[in-house]
Amino acid sequence: MLWGRKKDVIGLDIGSSSIKLVELAQGKSGYRLQNLGISPLPPEAIVDGALMDSVTIIDTIRELVNTTKVKTKDVVTSVSGHSVIVKKITLPFMTEAELEESIKWEAERYIPFDINDVNIDFQIFGSNAENPEMMDVVLVAAKKDIINDYVSVIMEAGLNPVIIDVDVFALENMLAINYEIAKDEVVAIANVGASTTNINILKNNVSGFTRDIFKGGNQITEDIQRQLHVDHQEAEEIKVGSKMDVASRTIVQNLLKKGSESLAVEIRNSLDFYQSSTTYEKISKLHLSGGGSRIKDFDLILQEEIGIPVEVVDPFRKIECNEKKFDLEYLKEIGPVMAVGVGLASRKVGDR
Ligand SMILES: Nc1ncnc2c1ncn2[C@@H]1O[C@H](COP(=O)(O)OP(=O)(O)OP(=O)(O)O)[C@@H](O)[C@H]1O
Ligand SMILES: [Mg+2]
Repeated sequence: MLWGRKKDVIGLDIGSSSIKLVELAQGKSGYRLQNLGISPLPPEAIVDGALMDSVTIIDTIRELVNTTKVKTKDVVTSVSGHSVIVKKITLPFMTEAELEESIKWEAERYIPFDINDVNIDFQIFGSNAENPEMMDVVLVAAKKDIINDYVSVIMEAGLNPVIIDVDVFALENMLAINYEIAKDEVVAIANVGASTTNINILKNNVSGFTRDIFKGGNQITEDIQRQLHVDHQEAEEIKVGSKMDVASRTIVQNLLKKGSESLAVEIRNSLDFYQSSTTYEKISKLHLSGGGSRIKDFDLILQEEIGIPVEVVDPFRKIECNEKKFDLEYLKEIGPVMAVGVGLASRKVGDR
């Protein structure tokens, strides 16, 4: 890298319901928000994590760049879902260079895809707590065709992809910037999107467990569509309350409640799985983000279900936001939806 200087990037979270753009600047005293934008995608654009309608996705990225007037071209984006595997593994001690050499062979044992179809990355986390001869490694494998699709929409939108991250890691970075987490404390984050819920359980700021659940807000939208005989767009408007209909109010409230309970059970199952597969570690708090966190009372329903305090994330908690440039009320409202974007924007060119 030229002069070893780290450059700022745009965080671009390409979600199935909308694309989010975040740009941060890093000053002496921390981060400052430079730019922020969100633009909806039609439901057919991204299906099961696959980019189905590249033209619309490219146009939407272009539009976001134009309206926010960002100057930076370097983009950090992320993938999640079926095409990505994150696994914590334990290997005999070796150097990073040695692991670089052998990772392909090691990975083959843990990854259910053809090793030639995936990009592999890893991070070493030091010696294993139970067996000091071994070391903990987080292994990440992502299907090459998905990575290529993301890279090509970004390039066709006139930008330069520099890092392809994973949603759960972006969330981890977002938490690290904004929240003090005590040593040995175990916290979880659940990012409830439209089609996917990302879960990450962290100890000492390191992922101990990650999982993507293929359920999210869409479930409720589809219920509304079916019950009220409306299309996706209209169901979304009714769901978020921008379109009110007195006659159907109780129906919608019930569907929101039922949907929240079902999502809460899914999240609880993952937390239970983590707690049963490790020597019991109590999760002290669950941070909630994503559009799903904006469902009325969802945080309370979830807290009731899991028996752990739930706090809706504010990804701008420790980020300086100029009130002359941004509507702080709007930032509060939209905040939880920008969680992945903020995590992505905090990366630097030249980061691993
Ligand atoms: N005020 C609200 N009340 C209820 N639901 C909401 C509200 N705001 C957003 N949502 C829901 O949140 C979901 C979108 O969240 P988000 O933007 O985090 O998802 P995404 O990143 O586009 O999707 P994914 O990551 O699953 O591909 C949609 O299902 C939307 O209906
Ligand atoms: Mg998302």
